[in-house]
Formats: sequence, C-alpha cells, structure tokens
Amino acid sequence: MMWNYVLSTLTAAFVMFAVVVVSRSVFPYWAADWRYSLQLLKLVWNYVRRRRRKPSFFVLDRFLEQRHKHPHKVFLRFQDATFTYLAAEQRSNKIANALRAHAHYTSGDTVALFMANEPDFLFTWLALAQLGSPVALLNHNIRSKSLLHCFNCCSATVLIAAAELREAVEEVGATLQEKGVLVLLMMQHCDTPGLESFSDQVERASDSPVPRSLRSNITFKSPAVYIYTSGTTGLPKAAMVNQNRLLKALAVLSSNGVVSDDVIYLNLPLYHTAGFIIGFIGSIDTGSTIVLKRKFSSSHFWDDCRKYNVTVMQYIGEVMRYLCNTPQREDDRQHKVRLAIGNGIRAEIWREFLKRFGDIQIKEFYASTEGNVGFINYAGKIGAIGRVHFLHRMLFPYSLIRFHPEKEEPLRGSDGLCIPAARGETGLLVSKITDTAPFVGYVQNEEQTEKKKLRNVLKKGDLYFNSGDLMLIDQEDFIYFQDRVGDTFRWKGENVATTEVSDILTLCDCLKEANVYGVQVPGHEGRVGMACVTVKKDGVFDGSQLYDHVFNHLPAYARPRFLRIKEEVEVTATFKQVKVQLVEQNFDPSRVSDPLFILDDKHKTYLPLTHNLYTAVVSGQIKL
Ligand SMILES: *[C@@H]1O[C@H](CO)[C@@H](O)[C@H](O)[C@H]1NC(C)=O
Ligand SMILES: *[C@@H]1O[C@H](CO)[C@@H](O)[C@H](O)[C@H]1NC(C)=O
Repeated sequence: MMWNYVLSTLTAAFVMFAVVVVSRSVFPYWAADWRYSLQLLKLVWNYVRRRRRKPSFFVLDRFLEQRHKHPHKVFLRFQDATFTYLAAEQRSNKIANALRAHAHYTSGDTVALFMANEPDFLFTWLALAQLGSPVALLNHNIRSKSLLHCFNCCSATVLIAAAELREAVEEVGATLQEKGVLVLLMMQHCDTPGLESFSDQVERASDSPVPRSLRSNITFKSPAVYIYTSGTTGLPKAAMVNQNRLLKALAVLSSNGVVSDDVIYLNLPLYHTAGFIIGFIGSIDTGSTIVLKRKFSSSHFWDDCRKYNVTVMQYIGEVMRYLCNTPQREDDRQHKVRLAIGNGIRAEIWREFLKRFGDIQIKEFYASTEGNVGFINYAGKIGAIGRVHFLHRMLFPYSLIRFHPEKEEPLRGSDGLCIPAARGETGLLVSKITDTAPFVGYVQNEEQTEKKKLRNVLKKGDLYFNSGDLMLIDQEDFIYFQDRVGDTFRWKGENVATTEVSDILTLCDCLKEANVYGVQVPGHEGRVGMACVTVKKDGVFDGSQLYDHVFNHLPAYARPRFLRIKEEVEVTATFKQVKVQLVEQNFDPSRVSDPLFILDDKHKTYLPLTHNLYTAVVSGQIKL
C-alpha cells in the first residue's frame, strides 16, 4: 500500500519533470509565456479592482495614496533640487490654488502646458488634475502656426508657459489675446501686454489641498491629457487620453518589475507618451523616485546614473545608439542600472549595449499614443518588439495583413476582405476596435480619425485600427517591427509629417514645389529628411535664404537635411511611385544627376553636396 503510494508519487514527479524538460527544449519560451499570462491576469485584475472603487479612483488618487504612504520619500530629483512626495503635493497645491483664485479660470477648463522638462511640468499637471482640468501637452519646439493649431484644436482657454518660451508665446500673443485666452508665464514679473506672470501668484497662494468636490464631475470618459502626434497629412493631431486610458496605463512600470525602491531616469520629452505616460504616470504607481533630465545627453548619462543611483532607465532607439557611440571608459560597468525600458532598439545595438554596459535587462515594447494594441518583448528576444501570446491576442485581437507598398493600402482578395500575411512575411498591423481596445480618435479631426479605421478586414462589417506600422511574425512567434507607412518618418525620436514640411518649404520665395521624404543613412535610427524641389520660373535657388526659412519655421528634427533640385516634377507616374523612386535613389551624387545640397548649420546655408561630403556623411564623419 505504502510502496504503491511512493511509487505513484515518484512516477508522477518523474512525468512532471519530463514534461518540463521536454517542453523547455521544444518550447523554450514556455516559462516566459506562463509568467506573462500571470502578469496579464494580474494587470487586468488590478485595473478592474481600481475601476470598481468608490468614489471613483483616478491616477491622481494613486499619487495622493503614495504621498500619504511615504510623504518624506524623494519623489523627484532635478539637477541639484530634491522634492519629496509631500513637497511635490504642496507645490502642486500652490499652483492649483493660484489658478482657482484667478478670475479668468474655472475648474475644468482645458489648459495647454508649454514647457520643457522641468519639475513644474509635473507639478502643474498634478495641480490641474486636482482641479479637474484636462491638460494639452504642447511640444515646446513648435512655433507660430503649429503652436496656434495645437493650442486651438483641443479648445484650451488657458496657456501656461515656461519663462524661456516667452518669445514663442509673444509671437502668437495677439491671436491668443483676440480669443480671450488667459496666458500665464512661469516668471516673477512680465510686462508684455496680454501675458501675465504666474510664479509670483503661485508663491503667494496657499499650499493646502483643494477640495475634492472641484473634480466631482470627472468620469472615466473625461479627457485627462491631450498628446500630439504627427499625422500623415498636415499639422499635428491631438490624441485624447481619457481618465480610463490613463488608469490603464498606470501599471506600465509596476507590471514590468519596477518597484518602490527603484530610481527612474527620465530623459525623454514629457510632452510625448514615452516620457509622460511611461516615465511619469508609471512612476506614480510604483511610488519610485524620478530623476528628471531636461534633455538627453549621452556624455552625462552614466555620470548621472552613478550620481543619483539610477536603477531603471528609459530609452528610444537613438538613446541606445548614442550611448554605444560614446568613447569607452573604465567605469562603463559601474552603475546600478538593472532595467532599461523603451522602444526602437536595433538588434546589433542591443548586443553591443549589453556587452559594454553589463547585465541590464532590456524590455523592448511597442505602443502608440492613440493605438489600441501594444506589445512587450517579455521573453527578452534580441531584436523583437513582442511575442504572440494567446491571452494577449484574446484581449486585443490583432492581425498582420498584406499591404501594397506603392498604393499604401491593404491588399484585398476577390471577396473584398484583407489577406492575412503569412508567417515570415511583412504585413500591416491592424487591431480590432472593441470595448476593451477602443480607439478614441483625434480631437476635432473626424477625417483623420476615419482614416485610421479599416472596415471589412477579416469579416464583413468588422472594424479595425490601422496602425500604419509594418511588422513581421517569425516561426517562433516573435514580432519584429519593419517600417512605418504613409507620409511620416521618424528622426531623432520625433515623427515628421512630410506634407507639413513641404507646405512650409513652398512658402519660401524661391521654391515652387516640394516633395518631402525620409532617407536612411548608415549608422542612424529612422530616416533623415530630404526634399525634392523645383525652383520657381525665373527664380534662382538661394541656399541661405532657404536655410533661414526652414530655421525659422521648422523644429531642428523636421528640417530637410538634403535637397534635390529637379527641373520639373514628374507627372506621368503617380505621386507615390515617384516618392518610392526618390527614396531609393537617396542622396548619392553618383546615382543622382540632379543638383544635390546638404544643410550646413555652420555656414547657415544649403551647400552643394559633393562626393567628398557624401562619403563623409555615410562614414559618419559628418554628424547629422
Ligand atoms: C458639475 O456639473 C454640474 C451640472 O452640469 C454643475 O452645475 C456643477 O457646477 C459642476 N461642478 C463642478 C465642480 O464643475
Ligand atoms: C547613492 O548610494 C550611495 C551608497 O549607497 C549613497 O551613499 C548616496 O547617498 C546615494 N545617492 C543618492 C543621490 O541617493
């Protein structure tokens, strides 16, 4: 009897052991897949639990929980300043009270925030969250027409700007004044008519919490933040992130193993999803310490990590490449960074990064501001952005479909439906729009919202979100990012909308037409801007005039680096075909007979692109 029992237990143990061994060799990602299943379930469970809390629980409430749990813990470090959770709350209370006292502000008004990375960015957001005001996060590089467009499209009535952006605000001041916008500058004193200094008002205000009742009308559908993305046509579009979406995003770091003791190095712009949602909102859930950096700097990166005891870093592809490009140092491996979370790292850079800076876990993910599906490379497969997982796919049904590169639209079969891409074949990522995976769309831009929707994809009458991203799924179920379609390209971590750039180029006196596209350069992430232009009849191309024009009207990342001057634009082929050809021909003087130019910041002009210059660019001697 006893022996039977022992024997059967041993047999069972052996069978279990064998199953594990076999499944580990046949399914090497078995353990990672299971861990991810649990992680997903926990994520859903936590979210559902929070959604059911009464009174309603928002991201701000999570911050207040943390503040009560550890008021004297450091919330934020910036340069040599340190703010505890309590200090952060007090500063945000002051901002909130100063606004409340203002005759031209009512709680709930939409406020645009025009500020580079600095502590007040976070405190102002917390203040506005307390007042129930949605916040539009303006890119601090934009100017004039783009600035007004971004401000207007979310119906903001208040603009809060950093002191150093005063000139940019003054430039559009008259228009804002006409519209009766309240313009507040974070400075002690301001004598420009129509602009008000705000720092002095904040200092005088009380630091006591504002009543909860001020945000009693907020629901999960209320807008929390507006984040701008460059669209395929024209000016940036505002993607509305509502309270529900923000609450869902709250666990982005905690679900990836970030804990309260971690110190997070935030050096990406706060007006983008990566910096704001992943860095800032993510840290609110973990209750960690944020080390905020005004701007990414490859030469200060590791010294900062050592100085502040950073344990978690954020990246975009460029960050990793720049770090690998810095000169090697003795102390390259002396730091406490254990986790890097971000998007866009290339396989070869990934390997080099680990070799050089030591054993850092890299969590590469894919997500977009407005999209309804995201991936995380939880198995740590070098080069991949994620992995097909049954549970994830059940919650967020997505598919890769065949795509026509020149027409830039999905291929359809004789039944009118899209055709799923085969394994190993590049396809367009589309994800089903459902209650769990909604697509809210762009604010006041029905046309662009419609454009992102795809109907009759796998079944008659179904509705999908068109991500505009080309991907591939390999034999092992890993997902790889391939390219971006449409009229945008990425450069230095920013989306550049080609039509916006060509609109601005053609405003220059000497140019007639402009066709803008991105070209690849060895050793660089993304694509650098190039424009194929025609000169006005009887006009003369003037390199320095064009330089001044793009310098004044476009942010640095959007200025075309290369120029190709054609006698006339081709009319025979379709516009898209011409573009594909231009992209292929690149800026190689031995392949292009048209005059080529390169933007030169030193001489403030466009210089003829010689063979020598070309070689210097391709070999990396000239920095782009
Ligand atoms: C909430 O909504 C009601 C009804 O629209 C309104 O009367 C009230 O002033 C709002 N409260 C706040 C704090 O905005
Ligand atoms: C970093 O850690 C060291 C050693 O644990 C400690 O002495 C130092 O004060 C820490 N620095 C910061 C900024 O927390």
